Amino acid sequence: MSEMVKISVNNVQIEALENSLLIDVLINKDINIPHFCYHQALGKDGNCRMCMVEIEGQKRPQISCNTLVKNDMIVRTVGEKIEKVRRDILELELLNHPIDCPTCDQAGECKLQDYYMQSGFYESRINVELKNNEKKRIDLGSNVMLDQERCVLCTRCTRFCSDITKTNELVVLNRTDHSVIGTFPGMPLNNPYAMNVVDLCPVGALTSKDFRFKQRVWFLESFNAICNLCSKGCNIIVDHRKEKYKDDQVFRFRPRRNDEVNGHFICDEGRLSYKLQNENRFLDIKSNLEINTLDTAMSQIYDLIQHNSKILFLLGPNLSYEEMYNIKNVSKILNANISGYVPTYIDESFKDDFLRTNDKSSNQASFKELGISQDKNSFTYFLNYSTLLIILDNNYFDTNIHKLKNKKVISFFAHKCPSITQSDISIPIASFHEKSGTYINSLGIKQKVVSKMKKNTPSYSINSIIESLKTIIEKGTL
Ligand code: SF4
Ligand code: SF4
Ligand code: FES
Repeated sequence: MSEMVKISVNNVQIEALENSLLIDVLINKDINIPHFCYHQALGKDGNCRMCMVEIEGQKRPQISCNTLVKNDMIVRTVGEKIEKVRRDILELELLNHPIDCPTCDQAGECKLQDYYMQSGFYESRINVELKNNEKKRIDLGSNVMLDQERCVLCTRCTRFCSDITKTNELVVLNRTDHSVIGTFPGMPLNNPYAMNVVDLCPVGALTSKDFRFKQRVWFLESFNAICNLCSKGCNIIVDHRKEKYKDDQVFRFRPRRNDEVNGHFICDEGRLSYKLQNENRFLDIKSNLEINTLDTAMSQIYDLIQHNSKILFLLGPNLSYEEMYNIKNVSKILNANISGYVPTYIDESFKDDFLRTNDKSSNQASFKELGISQDKNSFTYFLNYSTLLIILDNNYFDTNIHKLKNKKVISFFAHKCPSITQSDISIPIASFHEKSGTYINSLGIKQKVVSKMKKNTPSYSINSIIESLKTIIEKGTL
């Protein structure tokens, strides 16, 4: 068993696990250590030499991604000598690199650009005319574009395809300074996790066809969230932007590391599900009144509740734990039935043995935690019995269009759907990434999301609507 030992890094004493990789210690302690080929999900390859450090007692600088921590080790990542070594390696990396930063989609989050700026290596000794030119726009498949000139040959992308997805689509072709990344003829990049190579690529060689040229990354704002496309609840970063006179819009999802849930990666379908957030939004209150405000709609809702004692609340599986909890409380006050019946979210073909689950929703586990029945028979019984149905973000009736005859229907949706046309009153609500809340994933892990999106057009919060409904009911008057 390894034990904790003391080492010195840049004259600061730190504790580290004996025999662990020095680069991991530096990364985990937020000590700047430039590196291209090492990645905590892929391990070491030792090809880029950027992670050099000075170690007292060693004649030459060593790569920290292949150095094991020993007791009393004295390490330097800064200083004239080691910085000169790093600058020389960087110069080698830049020999054939194109002058693309102004037009490159990776600018602002490119490691090569960052290290170049850090090194203060501002003047090139290479004539642009002498650089090797390679292909600049290769469609690899699976939404990934390759620019061979920008590649630093770190092989993170090829190792992802060989070690993680085991699909082996990407390879290094040719030799010496003509080496490039490519695919075998007739074998495009084609696996459900392929777009992770875009995040792994430390430079602008691999970019997302979907995101390219849509936004400069420094205009985007970000917050931590989870993907709601399946019950794994992969951790993501939501990159969004509110442009003048427009609603806040999501531009991309990126994976966020969580070793208990998704490790470093997410699937492509989940990644691209950000589009569902923006598309087909339901934005205007629908009712049979001439003036549709939240107040008039609330008074109509209260009227329907007063005149119907047989009420069924039907909840969707993407509601947060807090929303479900509040709705359950109101249903108790009203002596109403409540159900979380959601057969339409199960898709066996989506499931795989890596991350994806067959449940294409984010929070069915909260139904169990809150004791909300998902049983088909009791749902059918409650439905037949009820005269007023209140649907909250559950799309069951989209595929069962004729079942709502002879009932009054109130619904709450973020996106347009057939259930809205079958409703007497429908209220637009915040979409999944516009609201904060807690979700329980398929592993039973509770995950809290705090949204930072700001919108112009109204999309109401279920929690505040339920809260005002509760107040109205308790007061017994409007
Ligand atoms: S394309 Fe990117 S990830 Fe792949 S080897 Fe080149 S620099 Fe590395
Ligand atoms: S595995 Fe599921 S939760 Fe994870 S990114 Fe894919 S769809 Fe989203
Ligand atoms: S990160 Fe260590 S050699 Fe590349």
